[in-house]
Amino acid sequence: MRFSDEFIEEVKQRNDIADVVGSYIPLKKKGNNYWGLCPFHNEKTPSFSVYPPKQMYHCFGCGEGGGVITFVMKYENVSFVEAVKILAERAGMEVKGMEETGEEKAKRARNDILRQINSDAALFFMNNLYTAHGQKGLNYLKDRGLSDETIRHFGLGFAGNNGKAVVEHLREKGYADDLIIASGIATNSETYGMSSSFFGRVMFPIINSDKKVIGFGGRVLGSGEPKYLNTSETPIFDKRRNLYGYNFAKRARKKYYILCEGYMDVISMHQAGFDSAIASLGTAFTEEQAAMIKRDGRDVYLAYDMDEAGEKAALKAVRMLTAVGITPKRISMKPCKDPDEFLTKNGREEFEKRLEGAENGFLYIEDRVRERYNLSDPEERYKCEREIVENLWMFAEDEVRMNSYAEAVVKRFGYTLSEVSKLLEETRPREYASKDPQLKKTAYSPPKKPVPKKKENVWTSAESSLLTWVTDEPEIFSVIKRYLKSEDFSPGSCRVVAEKVFQMLETGTYTTQALFDSLEDEDVKKDATGMLQNSAPDIDTSEKRMAMLKDLIIKVMERKCELLGKSDDPEKDLKVYNCILEIDKLKSGKLRLNDEEEN
Ligand code: UTP
Ligand code: MN
Repeated sequence: MRFSDEFIEEVKQRNDIADVVGSYIPLKKKGNNYWGLCPFHNEKTPSFSVYPPKQMYHCFGCGEGGGVITFVMKYENVSFVEAVKILAERAGMEVKGMEETGEEKAKRARNDILRQINSDAALFFMNNLYTAHGQKGLNYLKDRGLSDETIRHFGLGFAGNNGKAVVEHLREKGYADDLIIASGIATNSETYGMSSSFFGRVMFPIINSDKKVIGFGGRVLGSGEPKYLNTSETPIFDKRRNLYGYNFAKRARKKYYILCEGYMDVISMHQAGFDSAIASLGTAFTEEQAAMIKRDGRDVYLAYDMDEAGEKAALKAVRMLTAVGITPKRISMKPCKDPDEFLTKNGREEFEKRLEGAENGFLYIEDRVRERYNLSDPEERYKCEREIVENLWMFAEDEVRMNSYAEAVVKRFGYTLSEVSKLLEETRPREYASKDPQLKKTAYSPPKKPVPKKKENVWTSAESSLLTWVTDEPEIFSVIKRYLKSEDFSPGSCRVVAEKVFQMLETGTYTTQALFDSLEDEDVKKDATGMLQNSAPDIDTSEKRMAMLKDLIIKVMERKCELLGKSDDPEKDLKVYNCILEIDKLKSGKLRLNDEEEN
């Protein structure tokens, strides 16, 4: 697709860069510039600036820069064309009727036909199920516990006993051989002529988010190799950018996806009502798939198989998801092997319990790592620790998170911090080698002296956003104080600032000046400047604002839980438990705005 220069110009004109960037990240105006925390690298003090007179942005920390279209491309991880579309839609502009080159038009038309061929093949396979020769396919699916409704819902089928029938069917529909080949349904060989490799198999159509069939997985009945035959890569079938079950899961009213290993798992899960189950397509979970989930803003529960291969795949998925900032949880289905088996044996309510009991994915995986070693043997204990520490490097892009996980590992497995720091250095991946100062800076920095007990003056971005917001808009204090006390904030500067702010808001005496006057410690003052840098989120609808506020409150509550868990408070278990209950309650409901709504 191509846009005219005029169109692109208009898109830019109708999308002020400060508005657009400000809708993604909080910005604070200072002089002619706006400042915020750079979304393209990790930082705690804003070095990302937006300069409206030139309609440009630039980060003084990482050097990223460009115009409004570049920003959307980078932030949303989309192509130029997609970024222009997003911005045009944002400005309420008509996106259709854009210029396409002749070549692009032809390609799009051809891809439409390829999808049509796949869809016609899917119908053919479905119909086969209810014919005499497809009976064994239907029996197979029924034996595996699938209802007629599920079979229809997923469009399952049977490929027939030879690879010719589907080709004949598609030819009759008027498709030319070269297009049938390009669709991935059939190949042409000297010995067999036009023929499909899909035969004698039950067929699982793979459907994209626009509900179009783009390929198939075909399973042998019973045993045989390969167990699943998948459509090979075609112009419309990109295994890296699609997910099985996504066409339904995306539209499900859930805040999370359940990531499974296999097609059958997804189908069983949906049949049991877990309609946000998805799986990758005969390959490992990819970066692109992680980005899709990230864009949907959902959490992830991992329901991979409970065998060694499944744990390995889960570790990879945790890595991919961690990289995009998602912290997945791991569902244990022991003693069953996979969701399909678990649901067949135990039913949906039991699975619901497992879902609720899901653990932090990283810690779960490290527990499994330990099971593989004989820990009474010193050599094995060492190797095990090294493997676990090496896994910590997945958090290298986020120092605070890495420290937090390093501490968790220390506590959970009884390691010492100095051991962990040392092994971290030993296992430092090449991309974090010291030659690149920028990367080295973001990677884990081991404590200089052994075991500095407390880390002061660390706060999360949720805490600083919340404090900034409430100081900009004191009206929201009445909501926040229902859920949080100042002592729930991170110890050190953050808590001191929270105490002062809460006190002053309570008595209606808050001003920025008054706050800074009341802070005695110079370091705390400096920290407060950093903490209260950003401006309140510039969101139009009150509904979205409330959702964002709720999200921030939840994050701070989660932080509180985390801190509690690490404390030596004798009643911490009970407190953590209560806190988790509060969080759950809040997650599943709305923010309480006034006393009337409480009951
Ligand atoms: P599994 O072997 O776990 O299959 O592979 P499954 O989905 O649980 O199926 P059943 O229950 O044994 O019938 C998990 C996934 O790996 C891919 C498929 O996507 C499958 O769903 N796979 C597996 C292949 O692509 N080819 C294969 O030969 C095997
Ligand atoms: Mn399986």
